[in-house]
Amino acid sequence: MIESIRQFLLHPKETGGIESSDELAELITDIPNLASAKSVVELGPGTGVFTERVIAKAPKRCRFFCIETNGHFSRVIAEKYPYVRVYRDSAINIRKYLAMNGLRECDVIISGLPWASFEEDFQEQLLQEIRKSLKKGGEFLTFSYVQSMLLPAAKNFRALLHENFSEVRKTYTVWKNLPPAFVYHCRK
Ligand SMILES: C[S@@+](CC[C@H](N)C(=O)[O-])C[C@H]1O[C@@H](n2cnc3c(N)ncnc32)[C@H](O)[C@@H]1O
Repeated sequence: MIESIRQFLLHPKETGGIESSDELAELITDIPNLASAKSVVELGPGTGVFTERVIAKAPKRCRFFCIETNGHFSRVIAEKYPYVRVYRDSAINIRKYLAMNGLRECDVIISGLPWASFEEDFQEQLLQEIRKSLKKGGEFLTFSYVQSMLLPAAKNFRALLHENFSEVRKTYTVWKNLPPAFVYHCRK
């Protein structure tokens, strides 16, 4: 946790927040299809709170990799989970890494990305890449802080979710998270 605070202070815009709580990690990975997923991608794993849940819930033979821009966090993931591939790059290049793993599309994408810190153009391009990377019926899960819901960037992101996915469901709020957050559960 201390290291995640340090990285947030060093790179506030790129990091967008501190380590998520176990409760939020449980909620964002609470999808029945994870247990039978053949391929899962995690974007912005940070210190690996969500990564740990994916490893526990996805089948052993599932293809799972992470994409993380921050050098410190990508090393943390590589050291903690040596059997999980982590690429130090922007999530915008997700399709390049799917191809490197012999995949065209995947079943589930879990995001810890700080969407409210991104420019609107980047949000749009990245969400399009995410949609193209998912199989039909595939699921995209991402979280948002309650406090930022009224920011223009967060409103823009919400509208883009509805444009890009056939189903968008908002979960309950995890008040114990710092800051409180909820999950968007979207289906292609
Ligand atoms: C709010 S932190 C969340 C970390 C972790 N998922 C959690 O919930 O504790 C956001 C993470 O996204 C990473 N990140 C930011 N922009 C990114 C991008 N374009 N591509 C990949 N990772 C990115 C940051 O470095 C950071 O690790």
